[in-house]
Amino acid sequence: MMNIGVAGTGYVGLVTGVCLAEVGHRVTCLDVSEEKIQLLKSGQSPIYEPGLDDMLQKNIREERLHFTTDRTEAYQNKDMIFIAVGTPEGENGQADLSFVKKVAVEIADTITNDTIVITKSTVPVGTNEMVEDIIRSRTNHTAHAVSNPEFLREGNAIHDAFHGDRIVIGGNYEPAVEKVAALYTPFDIPVVQTDTKSAELIKYASNAFLATKISFINEIANICEFTGANVEAVAKGMGLDKRIGTQFLKAGIGFGGSCFPKDTKALTSMSAEAGYEFRMLNAVLEVNELQHNKLMDKANEYSAIQKGTKAAVLGLAFKPNTDDTRESPAIRIIEELKHKGAEIIAYDPIATDKMKAVFPDLTYTDSLEEALNGAEAAFIITDWAQIKEQAPAFFTSHMKRPLIFDGRNCFDPGDMLDGGVHYHSIGRSGNSFRMTMST
Ligand SMILES: NC(=O)c1ccc[n+]([C@@H]2O[C@H](COP(=O)([O-])OP(=O)(O)OC[C@H]3O[C@@H](n4cnc5c(N)ncnc54)[C@H](O)[C@@H]3O)[C@@H](O)[C@H]2O)c1
Repeated sequence: MMNIGVAGTGYVGLVTGVCLAEVGHRVTCLDVSEEKIQLLKSGQSPIYEPGLDDMLQKNIREERLHFTTDRTEAYQNKDMIFIAVGTPEGENGQADLSFVKKVAVEIADTITNDTIVITKSTVPVGTNEMVEDIIRSRTNHTAHAVSNPEFLREGNAIHDAFHGDRIVIGGNYEPAVEKVAALYTPFDIPVVQTDTKSAELIKYASNAFLATKISFINEIANICEFTGANVEAVAKGMGLDKRIGTQFLKAGIGFGGSCFPKDTKALTSMSAEAGYEFRMLNAVLEVNELQHNKLMDKANEYSAIQKGTKAAVLGLAFKPNTDDTRESPAIRIIEELKHKGAEIIAYDPIATDKMKAVFPDLTYTDSLEEALNGAEAAFIITDWAQIKEQAPAFFTSHMKRPLIFDGRNCFDPGDMLDGGVHYHSIGRSGNSFRMTMST
């Protein structure tokens, strides 16, 4: 059993703390947000993540998991301290390390014993060295820095903690790396042990590669629209090649969320700073930017939105099964619709509260029916099951004008046409996806 401190109780810090407590460690989670800590102390999670609430409450009850705003409680007498604070996009696309630096200073000024400081936040190459330097410059206690980037997928975070594809641990002091590796033994996940800089880069390279797959299939979708091919068929035919794989080949309105946009920008910025121009990643970002306009471009083609048009925005989270709206493509669509003077109603089953922070004056609902009642156009932004399970008749019966712009290809265009819906999606030129396969 280890005594562990965790700085930051966001998606990463909270899931890390809860899962380490679940396997028997004694964990103290710290946040600067009094509100979050009060909520967590009462056993409620400030974020939506399937399975998290039960595990949180169980470990609080069994006294392995504690929450505090007091740095002494979180950092003193700990075998290890995780840094899981945000690394948002800086002014010029670089990772803003101010939160990480602040935590390093706070750890240095609080610890009363030697410890291991593990960075879970996504940080540029060289950051762990910097953390170690900051701590060394302020205290005589030793704090070995170990890089341990996080790969959880929001909406699957608990599952991923126990069944992830790999755990990456990077450090230049072998005993510290071994100690961190031992921490993960109960998870039975392959561990990649490497040097600190490589571990830091693995995280950015992984996210950049996935973002590249998305922009690639979106480019193919655009070619499909010009040529009459169907991107779903193309993706399936490509993805069955095991070297390519089926995941992240879903055409849509581009990637969003708190990681891909900022991490791809941070990697291009980090490369440029190192003297190398990452040409391909610049193109990935440019394609994504254009893709965000796709639905509105289509709506403009049909002059679908005029002043006063009743428009439903279906889905606000950047993907299903999370309430995270950071960098969601819904933001751009809502801004455009507002600009055109549309009468907007925004639907999401769980993320409306988070979007209220961005657009406080919008009309929100968690009822799909209410969103569609009397609507003259609907924009599908998140492929929530609640949306995908509907039949065309659901749209024709509720909407004043059944006109749908689907940024997630939730429906078969042929079925929608047969059902009387004017349906526009990505990369399918109105074709049904009817591909047969012999086994
Ligand atoms: N969200 C994801 O899916 C995901 C996945 C992998 C990696 N990451 C990376 O993990 C890091 C954290 O991401 P997140 O989504 O959990 O962020 P988040 O914004 O949800 O949480 C960060 C938390 O840190 C707290 N904090 C800030 N300063 C602090 C301090 N001095 N002491 C204690 N707490 C402090 C904030 O109040 C906040 O609650 C980022 O670098 C991100 O890129 C995120």
